[in-house]
Amino acid sequence: MVIAVDGPLASGKGTIARALGARFGVPHLDTGALYRAVAVAMLDQSLPPENADEAERVARTLDVSAIDESRIRTAGAGVAASVVSAHPRVRAALLDVQRAFAAQDGGAVLDGRDIGTVICPDADVKLFVTADEELRAWRRRAELVNRGEEISFEQVLGQLRQRDARDASRADAPMIKADDAIELDTSEMSVDDAVREAIKLVEAKL
Ligand code: C5P
Repeated sequence: MVIAVDGPLASGKGTIARALGARFGVPHLDTGALYRAVAVAMLDQSLPPENADEAERVARTLDVSAIDESRIRTAGAGVAASVVSAHPRVRAALLDVQRAFAAQDGGAVLDGRDIGTVICPDADVKLFVTADEELRAWRRRAELVNRGEEISFEQVLGQLRQRDARDASRADAPMIKADDAIELDTSEMSVDDAVREAIKLVEAKL
């Protein structure tokens, strides 16, 4: 069973995808972490994320097993990730690792922006998780502050709008709801409610 979970940032898709993996006993891949890791590696080498040649080189040599969670979760890494992810050659370089993950015996759950449309167009279940924009900014700010980052709500909201716009408007694999995806708006839901609802939607498809 392959489950695709897409949606904009801080919509709750990551939490939902992880919970679905645990509930249905399949491994989970957060594909945004791959783009974030490429972005961090570039920033470490003082390379601008706009540089497509270097971004592709970094993506092709990325050691997926050595991704440092504490470094990729910053606001800066998120902004840079949305720049590197717009390079088609970066997306091509990261395609095989994602497809291989999805092809594991027993299935997998992947979350990102293009799982239901490009990475796993034949997924058994596709969810597109959304939530009100300001609410997402509040959620993301709380996460960043919890990790020790000092960042205002306005800054987070500004970055969120910029990243969503870039992710939705890029030519290659834009963030878009697949025709056969079920939309799940988590604005009015607690985390537990959203997870319960997602489990129900997946069970209905089994
Ligand atoms: O989900 P997360 O916020 O960690 O993703 C970081 C960035 O990586 C996104 O803003 C997006 O630009 C990019 N991304 C993508 N395709 C995916 C997952 C993430 O382009 N499947």
